[in-house]
Amino acid sequence: MKKNPYQGKFIVIEGIDGCGKSTQTGLLLDCLQHVHHRKAHGTSEPTASLIGGIIRSQIAEDWKSSNECLQLLFSADRLYHLEKEVIPLLKKGVAVISDRYFFSTLAYGAATMGETDWLLRINDKIILPDIVFLLKISAKTGIERIHANRHGIKLFEKEKIVEKVARNYKQLAKQFRNITVIVDGEQTIEKVAKEIQNILVKRNLL
Ligand code: TMP
Repeated sequence: MKKNPYQGKFIVIEGIDGCGKSTQTGLLLDCLQHVHHRKAHGTSEPTASLIGGIIRSQIAEDWKSSNECLQLLFSADRLYHLEKEVIPLLKKGVAVISDRYFFSTLAYGAATMGETDWLLRINDKIILPDIVFLLKISAKTGIERIHANRHGIKLFEKEKIVEKVARNYKQLAKQFRNITVIVDGEQTIEKVAKEIQNILVKRNLL
């Protein structure tokens, strides 16, 4: 993986299901655009592309393939995402905020099948984000939030898996410590948002 060589900053928000990623992506986008008057774009993985559609149907358990096939699809979706959406914007100097990126493949993929080295290898062609905010909540909070907000429980939301995913994220934060910042996701929405903004200012990423 190479560093982001483009003018725009690439910011990623990660964490287990229910950690508040989508909320924080939206708040950060709003803050960049309306408080700091920056050109910014919010996006997420899996994408809304054809590959993303196949992924979503497997998550909803309408369709079934192996864990290996699923993480290959996520990784292919990521390359498509970079090629068609993220890189063209970064080249124009637009800041891109992504709700999930390669940490998700490593954390969820390793939780369901191991194979960390292979997962890293199939993501070798991607660019590294400038910063990854890991919103840390306990597996228990994640499951409670999912039960409170959504109907049914999807593929990756079973408690034992969530605990493994949380451990894998912690490991990734160490492995990629130069680009990762852990934020306590159990704080209020406003406090999490403020902390993210302060870190971006401190690191000159705005
Ligand atoms: P979402 O609920 O954030 O849209 O993500 C869908 C699920 O897919 C979530 O449980 C995490 C999982 N996932 C992976 O297993 N690998 C990946 O590469 C990505 C992006 C998500």
